[in-house]
Amino acid sequence: MTYPQQRNPVHSKSLVVGRSRLGAGESQCVSQVPAIAIARNFSALGLQVFLQFSCSLPQIGFLFLNRSTPITMEINVDIKSHLNSPSTLTPEQAQALEKLNGSGNVFVTGGAGSGKSFLIRHFLKQAQEAIPVLASTGAAAVLVGGRTFHSFFGLGLLEGGSIATIERNRKNGRVLKRIREAKTVIIDEVSMLSGVVLNTAEIISRMARDNDEPWGGLRIICVGDFAQLPPVTKAGAKRDWAFQCEAWSFSQFASVVLSSNVRTQDNEFLKILDLIRWGRVDRTVHDFLNRHLLTEGFNQDPEFTSSAGDAEATRLCPRRDQADGYNQLRLSLIDEKEQIFPTVFIGDAKSKEALKRNAPVPELLVLKRFCRVMLIQNDPMKRWVNGSRGRLLEADESKLVIRLDSGSKINVEPATFSILDADGKVVASMVNFPVALAYATTIHKAQGATLDEVWVDLSRLWEPGQAYVALSRLRTPQGLKVAGWNPQSIIVAPEVMRFYEKLGPNV
Ligand SMILES: Nc1ncnc2c1ncn2[C@@H]1O[C@H](COP(=O)(O)OP(=O)(O)OP(=O)(O)O)[C@@H](O)[C@H]1O
Ligand SMILES: [Mg+2]
Repeated sequence: MTYPQQRNPVHSKSLVVGRSRLGAGESQCVSQVPAIAIARNFSALGLQVFLQFSCSLPQIGFLFLNRSTPITMEINVDIKSHLNSPSTLTPEQAQALEKLNGSGNVFVTGGAGSGKSFLIRHFLKQAQEAIPVLASTGAAAVLVGGRTFHSFFGLGLLEGGSIATIERNRKNGRVLKRIREAKTVIIDEVSMLSGVVLNTAEIISRMARDNDEPWGGLRIICVGDFAQLPPVTKAGAKRDWAFQCEAWSFSQFASVVLSSNVRTQDNEFLKILDLIRWGRVDRTVHDFLNRHLLTEGFNQDPEFTSSAGDAEATRLCPRRDQADGYNQLRLSLIDEKEQIFPTVFIGDAKSKEALKRNAPVPELLVLKRFCRVMLIQNDPMKRWVNGSRGRLLEADESKLVIRLDSGSKINVEPATFSILDADGKVVASMVNFPVALAYATTIHKAQGATLDEVWVDLSRLWEPGQAYVALSRLRTPQGLKVAGWNPQSIIVAPEVMRFYEKLGPNV
C-alpha cells in the first residue's frame, strides 16, 4: 500500500473512491477510517492508492499540533498506472516473490540495479499485513517514511555497549511489546548495518518473545548488496560486517539472488560493472575508464557553458562538503534572482532536531530559475524517479515547474518528510519541495538512485564499494565522465568476495 506523504495532484485518470473527514491528530489511526479501508482493498488488487489532503501548507502543522482542526481526505486510485503495467516483475523477481511470500528468514541480494528495491516495493504492496521496513540509517528512514532498525529494536546508540543495551531493554515494555507483536520485518540496505547491531537486536528479539528460536521466531527479510557501501567504521577499527556476526549464521537466511540487471541493458557496461564490483581492474576496465576520462582542461570553462565538458553531469563526491561547495559554485554562476524556500518543521523540539540532522532538504532551499535540479524521491504516480534531473523553469511557494531531461514538463508540489518513532508514529515532519541541486551529490546519497549522467573522480576513494556504487548509478555508459582514476580506489573487501563466492556463481 502506498501512503505517500506528498500531496499529489490527482492523476487525470484517477478515480475518487472515498472521502473521509479526519480530526487532526488522527493520522495514525488509519485503520479505523472507513475510507482507508476502501483504499486497502484497492491496494490489495495491485492498484496504486493516493491520499490527498485538502489542507494548505500551514494547516499541515495543525495535523500534528491541534487535534480539533478537521481536514478532508480524498482517496484516489490510479487506474492508468495499473493498466499500463499490469504485472511488471521480471521472471527472476517473480520467483523471488514466491520465496518472500513463503516462510523463514530471507536475504535478498544482487548487484546494483538488479531490482531488489523494486521487488520489495511490490512485495509490500501485495502483502496481507503491514510489514515494517527498517532503514539502516536515519537519513534513509526519513526519505522513505520509515523507521530505523535502531529505533525498532530499542538500540539507541548502543550506549554502554551491547550488554547494557540488552539490559536496558529488559525493562522497556514498549520495545518488548512492539517486537512481540511484529510477525515480519524488512531490513533495508543491510550492508550498512554492523554485526554488533544485528547481534544485539537478535538477542533483544529472543528476550522479547521469550523464545529460543532465531530472533525469537520473528521473521527477518533483509535486502542489500555487501559489495556496495559498508557499515560506518571508526578509523583503525576492523570492519564489522553483518554477514560475519553470530546472529547472521543463527538466522539461517535463505538467499535469494537477483542476477539480471534491470537498470542497464548495455552488455559491455554490465561486464565492466561486474569487474569493478569485484575490484578487478583488467585491461577492459582500464580501457573503459580511459575512454571516459575527461581530457585535460575540461575544467577550464569557468562559466560551465560548454555542454561537451562536465557541465551537465552530476558530480558524485565522496564527501558532503565537496558536493555542497560545488552546488553553491554552480548556482552562483546563474544570473538570476535567488528564490529561497524555507523548510517548515513541525513537532516537538527534540524530534525536530533529530529530523533536521537527517533532513533530505536543507532548512533553506535556495534555487534560481534555470538551475539544474534533481528529484530525490520516486514519484508514486511514476512521473519521475529518485535521481531524475531537469531544469527549473518557474518556482513559487506552491509548485516548481521543471523540464525533465526526458523532455516532459512536470509540476512538483511540496512533499512532507517525517520522522517516525519506534512504533511507527509520526513525531516530527518537514515540508518542502522534494528536490536538490543536481550539480553534485554524495556517493552515499546516490546509493539506490538511477542517473543518466555522472561525473566522478575515482582517484582518491577509500571505502570498499564506493567506486562501484558511483558507476552503477548509470543507465548507460554514455553518460559517464571520469575526472581521474586510480586502481587503488576500486576496492572490494576480500571477506565480501569470500561470502559471495559461497552463495554461488550468480551473485
Ligand atoms: N521489473 C521491473 N520492471 C521495470 N523496471 C524495473 C523493474 N525492476 C527494477 N526496475 C527499475 O530498474 C532500476 C533498478 O531497480 P532497483 O532500484 O530496484 O535496483 P536495486 O537492486 O535496488 O539497485 P541498487 O542496489 O542500486 O539500490 C530502477 O529504476 C527500477 O525502477
Ligand atoms: Mg535499491
